[in-house]
Amino acid sequence: MIELTNIKNEGVQIVLVTKADLDSGAKSLSKDLELLKEFNFKAKGSFFSQQSKTLYIGIKDFSPNSLEEAALSAVNTLRELGVKSAFIDVDDAYSQILAYAFLLGSYKFDRFKSKDSKSKDKEEGDETLSISIKNASPSLLDEVSLISKEVCFVRDLVNTPPNIANSTYLAYVARDRSLERGVKNVTCNLYDNDFLESKNMGAFLAVNQASNFPAYLAHLIYKPTRPKKKVVLVGKGLVYDTGGLSLKPADYMTTMKADKAGACTVLGAFFAIAKLGLDVELHAIMGITDNAIGKNAYRPDDVLVSKEGKTIEVKNTDAEGRLVLADCLSYAQDLEADVILDFATLTGACVVALGEYTSGVMGFNEDLKASFVKASLEMNELAHTLPFNPHLKKLLESKIADVSNISSSRYGGAITAGLFLSEFIRDEYKDKWVHVDIAGPAYVEKTWSVNPSGASGTALRSIVNFVKHYIKG
Ligand code: BES
Ligand code: ZN
Ligand code: ZN
Repeated sequence: MIELTNIKNEGVQIVLVTKADLDSGAKSLSKDLELLKEFNFKAKGSFFSQQSKTLYIGIKDFSPNSLEEAALSAVNTLRELGVKSAFIDVDDAYSQILAYAFLLGSYKFDRFKSKDSKSKDKEEGDETLSISIKNASPSLLDEVSLISKEVCFVRDLVNTPPNIANSTYLAYVARDRSLERGVKNVTCNLYDNDFLESKNMGAFLAVNQASNFPAYLAHLIYKPTRPKKKVVLVGKGLVYDTGGLSLKPADYMTTMKADKAGACTVLGAFFAIAKLGLDVELHAIMGITDNAIGKNAYRPDDVLVSKEGKTIEVKNTDAEGRLVLADCLSYAQDLEADVILDFATLTGACVVALGEYTSGVMGFNEDLKASFVKASLEMNELAHTLPFNPHLKKLLESKIADVSNISSSRYGGAITAGLFLSEFIRDEYKDKWVHVDIAGPAYVEKTWSVNPSGASGTALRSIVNFVKHYIKG
């Protein structure tokens, strides 16, 4: 556990050292300059001076990435040294990124490690390490702690295996959280198959057909007294994606417990914003089901009728997320929002296009997309736009229905998935909608940036930051 404060100057001092500091013999190094020179200290290295109780961390520059790396390296060394409290005195502009790195970088998912295998790690990881960031305001630290808690909540939920986190589990996590003490102005409605049928959500229901569990549309509402805007978040909550009858090959099926990341992220962001008490009417809509095989499974060649009334020819049952989202986006548009943002681990093609670490941002409104990307980059979460075009849209034509659920070409799959969703966006909402494909960064099986192997909770910080800017206007 790491705890952040801004009061104490206790314990080990952390000093970030650039090559220039070393060459010029900067004042911050004066206590140990000779030792550091003798040690032949380099950027990225670390050196602990016993005599001055100072931990020097080499840093290439003060870019967000370098600051994150430095924070992670500091925590590792402090843990190795068995240090319980430390402090760092840096320019206030660096406080936020460091604070996030300290809190998010020390996450572990060990719920399923039995006691014996845990005890080895325990000595290092479980004791509280208190770090004080000298110039950081208490309100910044409170906010970073609150948001980081939600990111770790999302990571836990996404990492939870599918034999536990079935659709009912995920839906009731949403409900339970809405009843938590300290959560104000929040309601949660859980709707299952009967409701979806009454709303003609034939696309969403088809995906659920072979499941042993109900489909749920969870609708959470946060209504403060004087909201400045109305924002709707929609998330893909596939608690497991086998691919359905268009079954995934074994190697591609593992990690598909993470196909619920969109819904989990939207849930975490919802509670972050509600707890921060931002002046926004916020709705979170989670489309929850698994994509199973079985005698009742929906088939390639089926034709579905969506809530919008558009018919869909199913050509591949593994393109299921877009079916769930089509009906959820339709539901979202009935809420008369100022803006609708959806988050989904939608396509492997997005990972091919942008790499594992970057989310793909799509939609018709250039300004809205740009503000989402900006809000992401400010949090050092990578995001980039992918452009729609009419040639790709044509590839979704079906001979017998209004639209096919997959493109007739194997190229541009992230964009054709986005364009499929756009078929269900009404004209008056075309400029109020952004689609974010988080298939890459939501779950990476190696440590990167401030994220451990597994679920990252990516996009949560971007959403909160976007909403903050958006309500300022
Ligand atoms: N959940 C997957 C997308 C995915 C792939 C997420 C890899 C995370 C990592 C989605 O439902 C899917 O299977 N998409 C297909 C679409 C195809 C059938 C057009 C894909 O990407 O292969
Ligand atoms: Zn799929
Ligand atoms: Zn999927």
